[in-house]
Amino acid sequence: MKKISGKLVYFFGALGGLLFGYDTGVISGAILFIETDMKLTPFAQGIVVSAILFGAIMGAAMIGYFADRFGRKKMVLISAFIFAAGAIASALSPNAEILIFSRIILGVAVGGASALVPLYLAEMAPAKSRGTLSTLNQLMITVGILSAYIVNLIFADAGLWQVMLGFAAIPAIILFFGTLLLPESPRWLVCKGNADEAFNILKLLGNARGAKKEISEIKAACAKDSAGFSELFARWVRPALIVGVGLAIFQQLIGCNTVIYYAPTIFASVGLGNSSAILSTVGIGVVNVLVTIIALIIMDKFDRKKMLITGSIGMTLSLLTLGVFSNGASSAYLVLAACAAYIVFFALTWGPIMWIMIGEVFPLKIRGIGVGVSSVANWTANLGVALMFPWLLSKIGSQIFIIFAAMAVLSILFVKFKVIETRGRSLESIEKSLRTASSKK
Ligand code: BGC
Repeated sequence: MKKISGKLVYFFGALGGLLFGYDTGVISGAILFIETDMKLTPFAQGIVVSAILFGAIMGAAMIGYFADRFGRKKMVLISAFIFAAGAIASALSPNAEILIFSRIILGVAVGGASALVPLYLAEMAPAKSRGTLSTLNQLMITVGILSAYIVNLIFADAGLWQVMLGFAAIPAIILFFGTLLLPESPRWLVCKGNADEAFNILKLLGNARGAKKEISEIKAACAKDSAGFSELFARWVRPALIVGVGLAIFQQLIGCNTVIYYAPTIFASVGLGNSSAILSTVGIGVVNVLVTIIALIIMDKFDRKKMLITGSIGMTLSLLTLGVFSNGASSAYLVLAACAAYIVFFALTWGPIMWIMIGEVFPLKIRGIGVGVSSVANWTANLGVALMFPWLLSKIGSQIFIIFAAMAVLSILFVKFKVIETRGRSLESIEKSLRTASSKK
């Protein structure tokens, strides 16, 4: 086994998140130029933006099975290869059809990475730092989005959308070679009967003393791992399923990606030129990264439910401001400020917490399937919103933000009545209270 430091394991382990962020964020700026070059209707524009999400649904649905069968590391390598190939193919697309096809293929890697990264990190991380490490995934996503915005800005004057899309091949190649150095997940190795190698990896990650105990715990967990998909719908698991899928869907229905993907379009509609619209978008990306760093620091200090509700209230107010003021005649600065406030509340709360909590709420033996199903729900809702947004914007204008505000209000009720608190509790205690609650009914 090659020697690699723990920090590098977490860095390369989370790097897939950066590609997820870059590939989904880059389209926001590129679409302004693709639209003109390929003469796209608003609907076709929606399809080009959303193609990656179609692929992501497929990728997220398939990855759990393949990762269990062939290992996490091989799947990250394959995703990195698809990331690189998809980026190059998108950049070279001569027409909308090939572009859409390439972006769907790229999406398979994005969806795969969205489930693989939290899975791999959780399996590598010591239990006590799992929360922070999960937020590391979100940090990579936001850095990826920001990098995309910056690349867009650099190539905006020349209108070179091909470079914007193709640039993603660089981190994809770094991911591929970085992953070659990564150890396989010890959990997967133990389940495949390779406890010796797993032991060495745990030692390498700094857990020399507890490694033996951890291996026997993993062995016990593997023994329980035989439950299938149907267990997800068992009565006692249902509250967890509702939390996982509900959070995943609401994260999208509150409209986060209308700001992330369409910020330049929104800014252009209140009178900013294409380049300054993209520049303001970079500002949004910076706020997203900086606030995610704060989220990483405070994540284990405040209850998740309280944070989610605070986030929803802040986003409701920002969305109402956007709904009332983002029509052509309004002040561009007010719209910018409302978008920034929205991102602050999202990045601090719903951005990271959704991905953290889908990893926490499911019982161990169906955790992989649960995360996969929640992730598919997230991408499907993401697709629905992205597909409808340009069309609805052209029909009802800025009132669309009022609809998202209503969703944000509903999300408060959902969190208050359906979500269970997970902060500071061991995964076993969460699992135990699911069982106890169902036996009381
Ligand atoms: C969401 C993405 C979103 C990103 C923005 C993630 O948590 O799942 O849909 O684009 O945050 O930072």
